Amino acid sequence: MLLRNAYLYKDGSFSSSDLFVINDKQWIAGKNLSSVKTDAVIDLSGKYIIPGLVDVHVHLREPGFEYKETILSGTESGAAGGFTSICAMPNVNPAPDKIDNIRRIQDIIDKDACINVYQYGCITEGRLGQDLVDTEKLKDYVIAFSDDGNPVESDLVMKKMIKQASLHDCIIAAHCEDMSYKDPKMSEYMHIKRDLDLLKEMDISCRYHICHVSSKKSIELIRKAKKEGIKVTCETAPHYLIFTKDDVLSENYMMNPPLGDEEDRKALIQAVCDGTIDIIATDHAPHTNEDKKNGAMGVIGMETAFSSMYTHLVKTGIIALEKLVELMSINPSKIFRIPQYSDFTVLDLDEEYTVKADNFLSMGRNTPFEGMKMNSRVIKTICKGKIIWEYIQ
Ligand code: DOR
Ligand code: ZN
Repeated sequence: MLLRNAYLYKDGSFSSSDLFVINDKQWIAGKNLSSVKTDAVIDLSGKYIIPGLVDVHVHLREPGFEYKETILSGTESGAAGGFTSICAMPNVNPAPDKIDNIRRIQDIIDKDACINVYQYGCITEGRLGQDLVDTEKLKDYVIAFSDDGNPVESDLVMKKMIKQASLHDCIIAAHCEDMSYKDPKMSEYMHIKRDLDLLKEMDISCRYHICHVSSKKSIELIRKAKKEGIKVTCETAPHYLIFTKDDVLSENYMMNPPLGDEEDRKALIQAVCDGTIDIIATDHAPHTNEDKKNGAMGVIGMETAFSSMYTHLVKTGIIALEKLVELMSINPSKIFRIPQYSDFTVLDLDEEYTVKADNFLSMGRNTPFEGMKMNSRVIKTICKGKIIWEYIQ
């Protein structure tokens, strides 16, 4: 496949280029590749090609909650959002806390997924916060370890996990929520502080990553830790960069951690700009309307992620397009060591559209972006050298 005349992102900047996709792993970029022999030539004048988007925080719900989302519908949703690699959180049933369960999930991924899916393994058995999984045994089958949805409350268990992560070179993706505090900001802050203090006190470094950071106080703590040389990375989600608790119109704005106030939102944007935040991940959390009405926490995000961030951060001049590519593709790839394939996302930055949840490929309709105007649109998703999704007008 030969993609001609696009603006291609390469090594940190865009330039006008052709892209010849040879196979699932190889491609050549360059000017005037028109002489290559290929059966498909696609003219992409005026369009942008970026490395495939990577979402390190997605809830696919299968096995156990297939009425909310499946690996098939979740990966189709990811493809429609321009994602070529996603990392699936472990709050499914049975949980990926042992090899057999991980294998069974992997079989469904191999059968149904239309993009690359990497599984998280649990930190503790059943995500109950008590008994550590066999990290050494599981590490080759999972991309990282997390009890997401639940925090690891016990200091002792967290210490053990830090030791294991350091020993076996694995990532801990921490859902930071200290249950002894009612105030969500305090709860997030105190848990992050506990973990950073443990890392300091134990004086060992590991690949420690903080999920969905949502408040100013937490950001200040992480910024300081990074300055002190503590090895830590973190993500936030589009909704925390766009909405505040004053925007809450319905249960589709309810998630955990909750939306903060304007001060938090501004601090998060600042942290995106200065590199304190490494990654934008969606925390795609599909629920049925009924479950949402009954208080289920979380919002879907993959099909709005790129255009919402382009509209609110790039179009407004807050960050450059290159920086958004770093936050949504380059950095998550590097930090999580995502395998590299011929994965690309093609964008039309001149498109405008209004979000309609009923058009989503996700089974979830729980989006806070319903009815919002967006600039830019993902028009093709190329995974392992093949167009696996395209926007048809
Ligand atoms: O809002 C949330 N939804 N926060 C979480 O931590 C879990 C997630 C889910 O699985 O629905
Ligand atoms: Zn979480």
